[in-house]
Amino acid sequence: MQRRSIKPFRAILLLGLGLGLGATAALARDAALLERGKYLMNGVVACGNCHIARGEQGQPLFEKGLSGGMVFDEPVFKAVAPNITPDPETGIGKWTDAQLAKAIREGVRPDKSIIGPPMPIEMYRHISDQDLAALIAYLRDQPPMRNAVAKSTYAMPLPPSYGPALASVAAPSVKDKVKTGEYLARIGHCMECHTPRSPQGRLEMDKLGAGGQTFKGPWGESVARNLSSHANGLKDWTDAQISKAIRDGVDRQGKPYKPPMGYGFYRSIKDEDMAALIAYLRSLSPMP
Ligand code: HEC
Ligand code: HEC
Repeated sequence: MQRRSIKPFRAILLLGLGLGLGATAALARDAALLERGKYLMNGVVACGNCHIARGEQGQPLFEKGLSGGMVFDEPVFKAVAPNITPDPETGIGKWTDAQLAKAIREGVRPDKSIIGPPMPIEMYRHISDQDLAALIAYLRDQPPMRNAVAKSTYAMPLPPSYGPALASVAAPSVKDKVKTGEYLARIGHCMECHTPRSPQGRLEMDKLGAGGQTFKGPWGESVARNLSSHANGLKDWTDAQISKAIRDGVDRQGKPYKPPMGYGFYRSIKDEDMAALIAYLRSLSPMP
């Protein structure tokens, strides 16, 4: 009778301990996910650069969070950034995680309608599963804000889809600096602005990073610069100068750049991510 089975109370104790450890691990995982979500949102991904609430003059209303209202007035559309706080009536409070994931990464709403530009879905198709979960964890953690915004209108056909449904997207290996930089530049949609567009509004991918798009707004006009390794681009720039331009929004003479690039967000990009971004920019073929 020495090798008796575990006494019931011990079994319960062990079971409880096991569940406790499991729950602790899950909490730690949730906390890490939220941490990553905060880092991406307040950094390179910067959804807030478009979705932050805006006042009458287009000024950001940070206290109203991501409750939308920014207007993008273009010849072929007048888009309005929606409220993406968890308010059930005017925001995304009723959407499931899967529905949010499909909206962000594939541009399809729960009612199957297509999300139009300038939301950079082509770029967001590259968001890894883990980072998508992190962004959703962040959105869910925000206070709900009631703010009904106008609907966008498009005088152009929206694509039937941005591509086939995505089952899973892997993040690049952290050991590959250029690939990591490319990934960050995609989820930060740098090239959405820094690549020229055809008259039909399509990005000219063979001129990736060559700059040239014009942005009009309360700031007047700004033109996206050439980020390629050409002399007209970043060839003669040091890493420190590039990083300062992205984080502080100033040129090599210290003169401030104009919006709409989200310098205020990019300030919090970590050094290793900045180094990867710069390595990627240096890998772009030179373009005049
Ligand atoms: C360049 C500006 C821009 C950026 C950056 C951007 N969005 Fe959007 N987003 C928009 C606009 C404009 C719409 C509405 C388009 C339309 O009406 O079809 C939209 C639509 C949405 C919708 C659909 C909401 C609804 O109620 O229909 C969600 C969800 C969303 N964005 C989430 C995000 C997240 C998360 C990020 C960051 C990963 C992000 N957006 C980045 C401009 C942007
Ligand atoms: C919403 C559009 C937009 C996005 C997104 C954007 N940029 Fe920019 N960027 C601009 C504009 C416009 C300028 C020039 C501003 C001016 O001249 O006042 C600029 C300037 C720069 C410069 C200065 C280069 C020079 O030659 O002076 C660098 C470097 C740069 N961007 C890198 C990036 C990187 C890296 C990302 C992504 C993390 C990014 N940009 C995202 C629009 C954008």
